[in-house]
Amino acid sequence: MRTVFLEEDFNYTLGKLSRKEREKLENSSVVITGCGGFLGYYFVNFFHYHADTLNLKKIICLDNFMLGYPEWMSKIAEDKRFEIKKFDVAKDKICDIEGAENADFVIHMASIASPMFYRKYPIETLDANIWGLRGLLDFYSDKNLRGFLFFSSSEIYGDPSPDAIPTNEEYQGFVSATGPRACYDESKRFGETMCMLFSQKYNMPIGVARPFNNYGPGMKLNDKRVPADFAKNVVENRDIVILSNGSPTRTFCYIADAAAGYLKILLHGKYDYFNIGIEKPEITIFELAQIYQRAGSELFDYKGKIIYDTSEDKDYLTNNPQRRCPSIDKAKKILGYSPEIYVEDGVYKFLKFIKESSKEQVIW
Ligand SMILES: NC(=O)c1ccc[n+]([C@@H]2O[C@H](COP(=O)([O-])OP(=O)(O)OC[C@H]3O[C@@H](n4cnc5c(N)ncnc54)[C@H](O)[C@@H]3O)[C@@H](O)[C@H]2O)c1
Repeated sequence: MRTVFLEEDFNYTLGKLSRKEREKLENSSVVITGCGGFLGYYFVNFFHYHADTLNLKKIICLDNFMLGYPEWMSKIAEDKRFEIKKFDVAKDKICDIEGAENADFVIHMASIASPMFYRKYPIETLDANIWGLRGLLDFYSDKNLRGFLFFSSSEIYGDPSPDAIPTNEEYQGFVSATGPRACYDESKRFGETMCMLFSQKYNMPIGVARPFNNYGPGMKLNDKRVPADFAKNVVENRDIVILSNGSPTRTFCYIADAAAGYLKILLHGKYDYFNIGIEKPEITIFELAQIYQRAGSELFDYKGKIIYDTSEDKDYLTNNPQRRCPSIDKAKKILGYSPEIYVEDGVYKFLKFIKESSKEQVIW
């Protein structure tokens, strides 16, 4: 049984790095928190696929597996360079993880990202972004790290005013401190403040990523974010259900592009913060549903309709941004970030991945 077959995407992501960036990754050891989630799936498998090319020394993968232990991890664990440990960033001590002190790079992703789930676990979400981050920063403040990547979110901007679209990094946000998304948005904001202060005080090479709506392989079908919901509808041959009036707009960034942006921030080697997403096309949720319908019809002979319903979660739409579209000029200029996979192609690739995984019994 294979674990993954994303060779094309993994080569694409690596190909987006400059020679200098690749050289920085070579012979390195990396600690990844939140390895069991969507982005974790992509990163861990990316490092596994390129472990020989990059001559990676050690990849320490940590997660408390609060939403379950992914099956694909057992395969990765067979590789001696990979260590997978059950670890709660908010409660456990990183000094107890053997080899963590020798890490060259740290990728801190632990924190549930799906609104339906972070509302179910609000304190855990807060803790991962605050105490989890603090524990890592304290531990690494006197080590020889070459890069520390904190995953913030585009949600730190809240529901931006129309004149702040596309949203650049200097927009200060329009965020509720007490709304149903506050556990996530505010803990990411506070996390960013911690990153700034630790980089100032200890001269740490901390990069902050603000992801804008990633999707693609690794996103579980029961994740409850829109790209996963629509994929689930298509795969199960049910109608595509929109849980709003379909009018909010987003730009959707395929994981292979976004991952290149995150690695560039990690390898940047000094403090800064960047939007990572794609600037176009900015489409409505209804248009996204149509894209799934078309790709589904080609790949699965899908014939479902697009219908509307209301979520069982009463807060599903509270403080939901009406428009979300990044300016990625800063990442383009400073990091050479250049996403190229538009949503029509990305959704096709995502659904094709799901189809081929089930055909070839690939675990993900
Ligand atoms: N995917 C996106 O589009 C997106 C957008 C904005 C921000 N982000 C951020 O990127 C990071 C990764 O996102 P994702 O989509 O992979 O999220 P995800 O929800 O799929 O995965 C998060 C992982 O973190 C783990 N985790 C949660 N709390 C933990 C703790 N206390 N200790 C150890 N592990 C813990 C979970 O078990 C899970 O495996 C998150 O920090 C998220 O907030 C992602």
